[in-house]
Amino acid sequence: MEGYEGFKKDVFNYTGLDLSLYKEKQMKRRLESRINRLGKNSYKEFFQLIKTNKEAFDDFMNYLTINVSEFFRNPEQWKKLEKTILPSLIKESPNIRIWSAACSTGEEPYTIVMLLTRFFPLSKIKIFAADIDDEAIRKAKVGLYKEKSLENIPKDLRDKYFEKIGNSYKISDEIKSCVEFKKMNLLADEYPKGFDLIVCRNVMIYFTDEAKDQMYTKFSDSLRNGGFLFVGSTEQIISPSKYNFSSEETFFYKKSL
Ligand SMILES: C[S@@+](CC[C@H](N)C(=O)[O-])C[C@H]1O[C@@H](n2cnc3c(N)ncnc32)[C@H](O)[C@@H]1O
Repeated sequence: MEGYEGFKKDVFNYTGLDLSLYKEKQMKRRLESRINRLGKNSYKEFFQLIKTNKEAFDDFMNYLTINVSEFFRNPEQWKKLEKTILPSLIKESPNIRIWSAACSTGEEPYTIVMLLTRFFPLSKIKIFAADIDDEAIRKAKVGLYKEKSLENIPKDLRDKYFEKIGNSYKISDEIKSCVEFKKMNLLADEYPKGFDLIVCRNVMIYFTDEAKDQMYTKFSDSLRNGGFLFVGSTEQIISPSKYNFSSEETFFYKKSL
């Protein structure tokens, strides 16, 4: 379909989101199937729709950002975090600072909080979570989940922190209150600093190599020396030393100056 270049410019001017930093083939395939399904014939018509109809705009952002998530996604990696990485980080830094960098609808930051309850009382836990998608953040703050996304939660934590409401499960307010949510665009905004652990999983896959390069540099700057970056299952960093990272365990990179 013609018109993607113009569409990227329009979207950038309208939202500040730079689609050219997302992998093009994948993005076009997704958008064009969306456009066809909406009965539109071109990127221009589609842009007119999202510009004039708030619901269509929210839908577009939602669709674009792919919010799929679950608690303890890839459980064996969370085990590594719990048994190896967290104990050593906490030893060095008892007031551990953690950032869930593309937190989607909350499963990831709430997983981190539940793990931290193995080390601290809830009253001592505060972590930072951000995502570009307002609607995902809104859902995270509500904290209602389908059973499917709870499958990997250890039983004791699931029994303790979830209440069944109809066909959904509500996460407890005490877990929710440990997370500070914020809207943030990882491709454009300034990164906060001074973290012991940054969790950024299943979002890098959507970005071009140039975008990834910038993000790894910024994540490295945001970590204290000795801090860790935790990435998704298909997101290993090709040349970690370029960013002062060393690969300690698969999917965990330690900043070592
Ligand atoms: C597939 S979800 C991953 C959620 C979670 N990290 C996990 O692994 O389960 C990808 C998330 O990245 C967010 N995202 C996409 N582009 C982003 C950007 N430029 N800045 C911040 N978040 C972004 C989306 O809104 C979405 O919630």
